[in-house]
Amino acid sequence: MKGVVLAGGLGSRLYPLTKVTNKHLLPVYNEPMIYYPIRILVNAGIDEILVVTGGNNAGDFLKLLENGKDFGLKHINYTYQQGEGGIAAALSLAEFFADKDKIIVVLGDNIIEKNIKSAVKKFRDQKEGARILLKEVTDPQRFGVPVFKGEKIIRVEEKPANPSSNYAVIGIYMYDYRVFEFIRSLKPSQRGELEITDVNNFYINEGNMQWDVLDGWWTDAGTFESLQNASNMVEKTGANKI
Ligand code: G1P
Repeated sequence: MKGVVLAGGLGSRLYPLTKVTNKHLLPVYNEPMIYYPIRILVNAGIDEILVVTGGNNAGDFLKLLENGKDFGLKHINYTYQQGEGGIAAALSLAEFFADKDKIIVVLGDNIIEKNIKSAVKKFRDQKEGARILLKEVTDPQRFGVPVFKGEKIIRVEEKPANPSSNYAVIGIYMYDYRVFEFIRSLKPSQRGELEITDVNNFYINEGNMQWDVLDGWWTDAGTFESLQNASNMVEKTGANKI
């Protein structure tokens, strides 16, 4: 199984912090943001990792992460996203790297208190399909939100005005190799992006989506409020606990 960290985008919600640098290089308490998602993968036993980035500061990732020695890695792979296009468009660049293997995708601004070991173990044993992680939140309208029928998720809605549950689909996704086929058939959403939520709905419609609830806290760090919150949480409890 391989890991992909998505660290592109304009970070426009954090402007002017992102005027001269990439969002994922900004500090979250005492480390650059991208350290946290990389450690999510490493702590789950994934050591083949691709970082997808773009923009004017892509070279800074190489300077910062080098070959991954801060994470106990011997090597890190990088790829460059030209322009914008959304999470699914960035993920499509990982097809060659994935080479038909299963992948774990982590959004570069997602930070967790603990680890994803148990979900990854279950996904290793899962023959095919996808697996998402949920977390109860107070502001589900900011995220992808699952719609349940009993224990089953029947669809995910992206940033719904009237969320049907208090869960967010967090930015850690597990997919089999067919994800790239699904991405090819996507159409841009109203915000002009290829949405990861539409990818998840492909698997749900096929009856091939499993889910778990994440243990410990989770936050994104893509807005001023959540970035500050992320730093406070890391200061208070630490992150990526094994
Ligand atoms: C993205 C996804 C959303 C998900 C969130 C998690 O939102 O579109 O479904 O819940 O990441 O961080 P965005 O950060 O693009 O607003």
